[in-house]
Amino acid sequence: MRHGYLWGLFGLFALVGVTLHLIVTNSTPTVITRVVVQEPHSQPQTWPSTCPEVNYSRALLKHASSPDKVIILALVDEAFADMAVNLYLTSYQPHGIKNFLFVGAGNRACELLAAKDLQCVTYMDDKDSAKASTYNSKAFKRKMNIRTFMISDALALGFSVVHTDLDMMFLKNPMPTLTSTKGDLVSLWDDFVHNAGFLLVRPTEYGKQIYKKMDELTKKTPSMDDQTALNRAVKGLKGKKGFKAVALNKNQFLCGLGYFEKGHRLFPSPCKECIVVHNNWIVSREAKIYRFKEHFMWAVDERQYYTSPSRKYIAYENPVNFGKDKTNRDNEMQALKSALAIGQALNRTVILPKFHCNKDGKQDCPLNSLLRITPFDSQFGENYREHSFLHHPLVPQLSITSSPLFISSPQANTIISENKVKIDDVEKTSAEKDVISDKDVVAWFGGLNESVLKLHSLYGLTVQFDSSTVGDAFAKKIKSGFVQGKYRQL
Ligand SMILES: *[C@@H]1O[C@H](CO)[C@@H](O)[C@H](O)[C@H]1NC(C)=O
Ligand SMILES: *[C@@H]1O[C@H](CO)[C@@H](O)[C@H](O)[C@H]1NC(C)=O
Ligand SMILES: *[C@@H]1O[C@H](CO)[C@@H](O)[C@H](O)[C@H]1NC(C)=O
Repeated sequence: MRHGYLWGLFGLFALVGVTLHLIVTNSTPTVITRVVVQEPHSQPQTWPSTCPEVNYSRALLKHASSPDKVIILALVDEAFADMAVNLYLTSYQPHGIKNFLFVGAGNRACELLAAKDLQCVTYMDDKDSAKASTYNSKAFKRKMNIRTFMISDALALGFSVVHTDLDMMFLKNPMPTLTSTKGDLVSLWDDFVHNAGFLLVRPTEYGKQIYKKMDELTKKTPSMDDQTALNRAVKGLKGKKGFKAVALNKNQFLCGLGYFEKGHRLFPSPCKECIVVHNNWIVSREAKIYRFKEHFMWAVDERQYYTSPSRKYIAYENPVNFGKDKTNRDNEMQALKSALAIGQALNRTVILPKFHCNKDGKQDCPLNSLLRITPFDSQFGENYREHSFLHHPLVPQLSITSSPLFISSPQANTIISENKVKIDDVEKTSAEKDVISDKDVVAWFGGLNESVLKLHSLYGLTVQFDSSTVGDAFAKKIKSGFVQGKYRQL
């Protein structure tokens, strides 16, 4: 139970963790550098138009809907600026949502968002902003609980706050449902508790009391996260006359456990009822982004991730279920390593296949079911794309060649026949050996011009680089990049 809670809270920890990383000095990990709040200068006309806003109440007034004063707030720090941009691109913009404001923890976050023309205010706790705070000090914890403060400040100013985490996907516009649901607090249900990461809180007496109580709780117990505090505060008000805390319909507003796992959606899947999906119950920023990408929930085209006119790709499949978890894993990991080596030899980006996992390979799984995404990305982040990549709306029509269809090594043939598995009757281009060289690869495929080279499968094959320097470097990347993992990446 406790652990489930923690997964659900990842959004918070991620922000906290990264914020910490950003503001810690390099000399000692326990001292935070001075945080400087930019005062509005006497000559505002000389500021660039993108200069981040620093007056919180002015920013709220400017961007809230009128006359009902509803504002959608999301806290962002530098390391998660891309996820904020993604939230805008996938969830705000398509639904014409304009009454939002990103709240920057630190100046840099807002600078990054302002560069994308996204409204952002640099939020600082005035009391602590101008002095160094020490790790574990009260001031430090106050920074860590910045989400609670930014919400209670907005409530005090009379705004209704929709608070959203950044790892969120609005499949439909949630605002009509939220604003028409009565209650001091209306939240997404995170399997067994109110989710602090997606909720509406109204500036009613009880609404304000919830956040005041959360402030008190986290001051008293600095290690308490805001979701625990929220649920404690709500519990404390239960039964009070007129108090209303509502959980949103869990078939419409889904936590990550509900949508992806219980909903058996490991690859893009339709959901007619769904309005909002929280990409939680998975740990690490990289895994979240990978999962967003697999589900067409990512739209940040950084360095032409989707739209490169010149990048070339290699795709392959894992068409055989060998029937045993370990056999599947061994064969599919070996094939992936070969694909990455072939990709390197040809300067082609590997488009991932589906993998087999769960009870004798009965299920098609994404990469995070098998490997930890963070180390994988650190080594191969530039060299691969998610399985669904070619179907992403931003990817242009690419020329595809599907020959040669099948590289089979003798070892693979043995494995396949021993396991009595039938591979589709395809034209075979047999490697006739278990180990091929990068020179072979270039000789076979180097002349192909098409954007996507589709290979049938890569079982049992090892690619060896002629140059031992290149080979050693590649082996090192494999060693660091391939760390066994499970779906939730714990
Ligand atoms: C911030 O904006 C509010 C509302 O526009 C204004 O009343 C207040 O004086 C401003 N504060 C500062 C420090 O400029
Ligand atoms: C390799 O591919 C990248 C990405 O498309 C491209 O920018 C680069 O020029 C290519 N390198 C060579 C040596 O062709
Ligand atoms: C490769 O593509 C270029 C540009 O599209 C074309 O000029 C060239 O003839 C092609 N080469 C081959 C071998 O198809």
